[in-house]
Amino acid sequence: MRTLLVTGGAGFIGGNFVHLKMQQGADRIINLDKLTYAGNPDTLAEFRDDPRHVFIEGDIGNQALVGHLLSEYQVDAVVNFAAESHVDRSIDGPAAFIETNVLGTFSLLDSAKAYWSALDASRREAFRFLHVSTDEVYGSLGPSGKFTETTAYAPNSPYSASKAASDHLVRAWYHTYGLP
Ligand SMILES: NC(=O)c1ccc[n+]([C@@H]2O[C@H](COP(=O)([O-])OP(=O)(O)OC[C@H]3O[C@@H](n4cnc5c(N)ncnc54)[C@H](O)[C@@H]3O)[C@@H](O)[C@H]2O)c1
Repeated sequence: MRTLLVTGGAGFIGGNFVHLKMQQGADRIINLDKLTYAGNPDTLAEFRDDPRHVFIEGDIGNQALVGHLLSEYQVDAVVNFAAESHVDRSIDGPAAFIETNVLGTFSLLDSAKAYWSALDASRREAFRFLHVSTDEVYGSLGPSGKFTETTAYAPNSPYSASKAASDHLVRAWYHTYGLP
């Protein structure tokens, strides 16, 4: 059995991802979402009685909870959609963006690394931590132009700065610790 820990799976993109994976026949999805103003559990209503989908209301920054979920369900991959995601809100109140996008991602990485380090060699190699970024980390485009994955980071808002920070943390956990 392959188990995904999807974070932010009651949000816009995470919710669509959960629907897609369920349609594709996922073995099991553990869906961890804090249900902020942006989370809508009704989008997951059709999975309420489906044992392949386990919804947990909680914070990616709760290491005790995340550690428990990783080992209890023997997770094979983490897909991190959880974020504060609206630029305008980040201008009015950046603290929540730092809390979830920066500290929350750090905490999730730390939990994943602790769990992953204790796996046997073949499961350790197969494990994945997939972090969802945003084009906004590359700055702003005019009426034309494009970004590529090698464009230099140039975040312009508190939102994009917090997402850029989280990207750098994920990159560093790969290069420093080998977290796949
Ligand atoms: N929507 C876009 O246009 C877009 C574009 C590019 C990248 N992204 C990125 O994709 C990801 C998903 O975006 P979205 O549009 O679905 O966002 P969204 O705001 O619709 O959903 C975010 C979800 O995360 C949950 N959440 C927030 N803080 C949490 C925490 N601390 N712990 C657990 N859950 C928490 C919310 O309850 C919500 O369900 C984000 O990382 C975002 O930066 C979004």
